[in-house]
Amino acid sequence: AVDISKLRDQTGYITLDDGYGNTGSCKSAITFIDGDRGILRYRGIPIEQLAERSNFVETAYLIIYGELPTHDQLRKFSDLLTLNQMLHEDMKFHFEGFPPHAHPMGILSSMINACGCFNPSLFADEEVSQFDLQVAQLISQVRTIAAFSYRKSKGLPIIYPKKAYKYSANFLHMMFSDPYEDYELKVEVVRALDLIFLLHADHEQNCSTSTVRMVASSRANLFASAAAGVCALWGPLHGGANQAVLEMLQEIHQSGDDGSKFIQAAKDKNSGKRLMGFGHRVYKNHDPRAKIIKRQCDILLETLHIKDPLLDIAKKLEEAALGDSYFVERKLYPNVDFYSGIILRALGIPTEMFTVMFAIGRMPGWIANFKEIREEEGSRIYRPRQVYVGPTIRSYTPMEERK
Ligand code: ACO
Repeated sequence: AVDISKLRDQTGYITLDDGYGNTGSCKSAITFIDGDRGILRYRGIPIEQLAERSNFVETAYLIIYGELPTHDQLRKFSDLLTLNQMLHEDMKFHFEGFPPHAHPMGILSSMINACGCFNPSLFADEEVSQFDLQVAQLISQVRTIAAFSYRKSKGLPIIYPKKAYKYSANFLHMMFSDPYEDYELKVEVVRALDLIFLLHADHEQNCSTSTVRMVASSRANLFASAAAGVCALWGPLHGGANQAVLEMLQEIHQSGDDGSKFIQAAKDKNSGKRLMGFGHRVYKNHDPRAKIIKRQCDILLETLHIKDPLLDIAKKLEEAALGDSYFVERKLYPNVDFYSGIILRALGIPTEMFTVMFAIGRMPGWIANFKEIREEEGSRIYRPRQVYVGPTIRSYTPMEERK
């Protein structure tokens, strides 16, 4: 790769790379992807090993701080998350302002920004840096906001997090407990949710992470940068795809199709349909996260004795697509979103919350990218150029002469 920064603003040439398919926007030491070989590593550690042996909180630490934590570091990090999991009480009034049908991603981005407006040193400990405190607030409170916004949309009373519960268990508690009875936390259910968060924790310079870096490059604060990431993630071609996959599977199921008619439609550019959860800008082989999620999906549904017809349709679609030259030639394989929705559905998470789950998981990656750009010596504001294709020069036409 040519390091264009060495030529800073001097050449007079502008490279045009539609969708940035071949443009490196930064140097990064966080996540490594080899899309041709289906490899994903966080800080050098293969995703398969982390999925097998780590958990979301430990992996979050690894992604943000660069190393696996020692016992002591992990304890301190977990304690800080717990200490900062409550929202400022006045933030409850903000929830009141949203209409019941507001999309949870809209609520999430607004509330993350609101978090940044409340005093971040409220629960400060002298030994903890302002950045570490904000990290803990963001990771911990994004989960509280998500659960509160769900309860609000259902008209249910808010359930506060418990000190004794770990990260993913607390999320399920805040979502599904009621004031009279605590939600029963099954080990397999907590583990499945934790794995979903872990698998989404970072994925190098995708649309939302690049957005976070873009905003961070202007020296905006961590909360503002993360809120912008949520907005970028919302779109159906990015994080919104997990919701779109489930809606697609439901549509196929309701129409009585076994998937074969849909596959034909997805190949027809005029149909307006795509096989959601398939294809990836970087993976031109399998997405390693999809493999892990598919396996976890089978395990979870079996453990919970759930027979989901949507899983059967998903498997049929995958089989049909992998044997179809249209998908094979374009190197379109299932991505992380293809099976994750079925797990989330089995956990009782409503479809409109799927992309929020992705955002909770992606928070460590966004924070690490924020940290990286802020700590980079000589980093400067991101400011891409463009190739102008409009009229070169025209005169102003007075109103009465316009046609
Ligand atoms: N179904 C049918 N055809 C597809 C699909 C699909 N899911 N994805 C790509 N194609 C086709 C395109 O029509 C195009 O065909 P052509 O060359 O004949 O014109 C070719 O494959 C290349 O597609 P692009 O859109 O140029 O690929 P790009 O890298 O820009 O897009 C993307 C990648 C957005 C992921 C795309 O594959 C897609 O829309 N997939 C469905 C949505 C999805 O699952 N998004 C989640 C991505 S992962 C994530 O964000 C977590």
